[in-house]
Order: sequence, then structure tokens, then C-alpha cells
Amino acid sequence: MKELSLHILDIAMNSVKAGASLVEIGLEEAGGTLTLTVADNGRGMEPEFLASVADPFTTTRTTRKVGMGIPLLKLAAEQAGGAFSIESAPGEGTALTASFQTGHLDNPPLGDMAATLVSLIQGSPGIDFTYTHTAGGGVSSLDTRELRAALDGVPLDTPDVLAWIQNSIEEEERGLSQ
Ligand SMILES: Nc1ncnc2c1ncn2[C@@H]1O[C@H](COP(=O)(O)OP(=O)(O)O)[C@@H](O)[C@H]1O
Ligand SMILES: [Mg+2]
Repeated sequence: MKELSLHILDIAMNSVKAGASLVEIGLEEAGGTLTLTVADNGRGMEPEFLASVADPFTTTRTTRKVGMGIPLLKLAAEQAGGAFSIESAPGEGTALTASFQTGHLDNPPLGDMAATLVSLIQGSPGIDFTYTHTAGGGVSSLDTRELRAALDGVPLDTPDVLAWIQNSIEEEERGLSQ
């Protein structure tokens, strides 16, 4: 079973490829349901394309005939007793929601969110990412806009900065699961 953090990496990469300058990732755990949201301000999708984007035979990539990122996340959510939806408007952006029943036998493990966020930031240090994970009254979060302001010109992909992000998210995630 693929970890949710790897699905999130795939989905956020779509936002990056769509030219987004801001990608907002949310995870909310409450009442036995985990809800993932990924929203971006990228180029968006035309309604006809959007209608079939969760179908594994839809992609605009030329290197590979079959685009699987979205269909695989939809399948993972449905297999865990959850649901999937996506909204998009050309020139405005895209927002996707996937829910999972956390007690379901096929609920995927979250995996390494710190590694996912560090990969995204390292790969696209000019793009802003926000991450907010709430569970049991606790929160794990990151906002590269705030970090950028605090760093005063030091790039986000500086090794020390990436290491700090990694440690900070790992620590906050550990706090959530206690
Ligand atoms: N956030 C997004 N903004 C704009 N277009 C998107 C976004 N996410 C996906 N798409 C479009 O949907 C297609 C299918 O995405 P996906 O299922 O992840 O497969 P792949 O990325 O391998 O093509 C992409 O090729 C792209 O054209
Ligand atoms: Mg993709």
C-alpha cells in the first residue's frame, strides 16, 4: 500500500507543473476521518478535461501515455471507505479533496510528511507551500512565506534550512501522534 505522503508528493508536483506560486496542503483528522486537501493557484483545467482527469487514461504529458497521480489517489481514498473530489477553473487554480476512514483496514499509513515537504521545497524553492495537519487538538504546520520572511534573503533550499524544516515537521508530527 502506497503511503499517503507519497500521494501528496505526486499531487503537489502537479500543482508545481501547473505553474502555481502557492500550494496549500491540509490534513485534518477528526471523528475517524482523515481529510486531505491540496489547493493551488496554478493554470487550472478546462471543464471537459477535469471531468475525465480521475480516469487513468487522461494526461497532457507526452513522455508517458497514462497519467496516474490523480486516479491512484482517488482509488486509495475509495478503498479506505472515503471519497474524492476535485474542482478547477482555468486561470484560477485547482483544489482537490480526498477523505479516508482511519479505522479502515485499507487506510494507507501517512508516511514521512517531513520528507515530502522537504522534497517539494528543495525541488521548487521559489514556490510557496503551506502545510497544516490537525489531529486530536494538536497541529503540525509550515508556511514557507513566513519562513522566507524570517530568513531575510537566505534561500529555502539552503541545506541548513532544509534540515531545520525536516526536524521541525518530524517533531511536530511526533507531537500529534502522542
Ligand atoms: N493541479 C493541477 N493543475 C492543472 N492541471 C493539473 C493539475 N493536476 C493535474 N493536472 C492535469 O491532469 C493531468 C493528469 O494528472 P495526474 O493524474 O497526476 O497524471 P500525470 O501528472 O502523470 O500526467 C496532468 O497531466 C495535468 O494535465
Ligand atoms: Mg501527476
